[in-house]
Amino acid sequence: MTREKMQSIESFIESALYDKNSGYYSKNNPFGNKGDFVTAPLISPLFSEMIAIWIISFWINIGKPKNFSFVELGPGNGKFCKNFCKVLENFPELKKSIKIYLLEKSEKLIMIQKKLIENNNVIWIKKLNEIREGPILFFGNEFFDAIPIKQFEIKKFKVCEKFIKFKNNKFEKFIYKKITKKTRKNLNNYNLIRKNGVIEFPEQGLHILDMIIKKIKKNNGGVLIVDYGYLKSEGKDTLQSIRAHKKNIYYENKGKADITSLVNFGLLKKYFKNKNFLVSKIVNQGFFLKRLGIMERANILSSKMSFKEKSDLYYRLERLLSANKMGSLFKVIFASSKKINFKLGFK
Ligand SMILES: C[S@@+](CC[C@H](N)C(=O)[O-])C[C@H]1O[C@@H](n2cnc3c(N)ncnc32)[C@H](O)[C@@H]1O
Repeated sequence: MTREKMQSIESFIESALYDKNSGYYSKNNPFGNKGDFVTAPLISPLFSEMIAIWIISFWINIGKPKNFSFVELGPGNGKFCKNFCKVLENFPELKKSIKIYLLEKSEKLIMIQKKLIENNNVIWIKKLNEIREGPILFFGNEFFDAIPIKQFEIKKFKVCEKFIKFKNNKFEKFIYKKITKKTRKNLNNYNLIRKNGVIEFPEQGLHILDMIIKKIKKNNGGVLIVDYGYLKSEGKDTLQSIRAHKKNIYYENKGKADITSLVNFGLLKKYFKNKNFLVSKIVNQGFFLKRLGIMERANILSSKMSFKEKSDLYYRLERLLSANKMGSLFKVIFASSKKINFKLGFK
């Protein structure tokens, strides 16, 4: 008996990554050299240190509130948070005032994070309403690239959503289905419809952003986003899949490989502006980290290092900063409620 199944791109990614039993993030620890990929906090602790300094400066800028909440979105293996907690040891006043929340949906990763972080100041949450009221800062590194997106294309002059048809669990072909008026209106609202190429729409990502924005509006605060992405869509299919540090075709090895898409930073900026937020320029990760003083910090640390340690340190910085590595593909944006005007790293 042949078994046929059809899934939209969005629901395919959702089940491939997050299905409770077979999803990639539900079963695996994908991080590190033995896993499938590395992220900035794993490349160098200086990345986390710079973000930590940014967070501390933000807290000072808003008047050192005593009930300050910090939320990390999708903490991965917990490396950023571990380093952040270490930096906080040098800032006892903030350490007393801050509550750190980790928003994570994978039970497997929560276990890994708990083991690494071991800190009573850290609280794991599944929903934003578990956060106390008061000034709040959200931070996500490579969070939005891991949220499923929808894809559309124009077929016979009509906007259609892209689906995948599987036969006996094997890819058979792509299928395109005409969209509803409501979806078309949504795409129109963000000016996403184009004649050629692929239209990518991060509906789920915007829904999460909406909840974040509501929380910030109520409590005052901001959201700092670091991710790989682009400023304006060129109609490309940006889905990519990695397995054991090598490229994988995203609809193959379901549940055994990571799937991500490039983040449309231009769209995020527009979204924040529509919600009446103050939005920073979109800058490259290399620019941002250099403005925060990553080179100066590296020079101080390296003065006491052996030659081997020094070369390792600068090799890792090169990966984070250089234009042909993560330095320019990765972008940074900060959006805040109107009362806050904080531009560190963006000028
Ligand atoms: C690519 S990893 C990011 C890793 C980490 N931030 C780092 O820099 O190493 C994506 C993370 O987001 C989590 N995640 C994805 N969707 C989520 C959601 N809707 N709510 C909470 N966590 C989510 C994943 O389980 C994973 O921890």
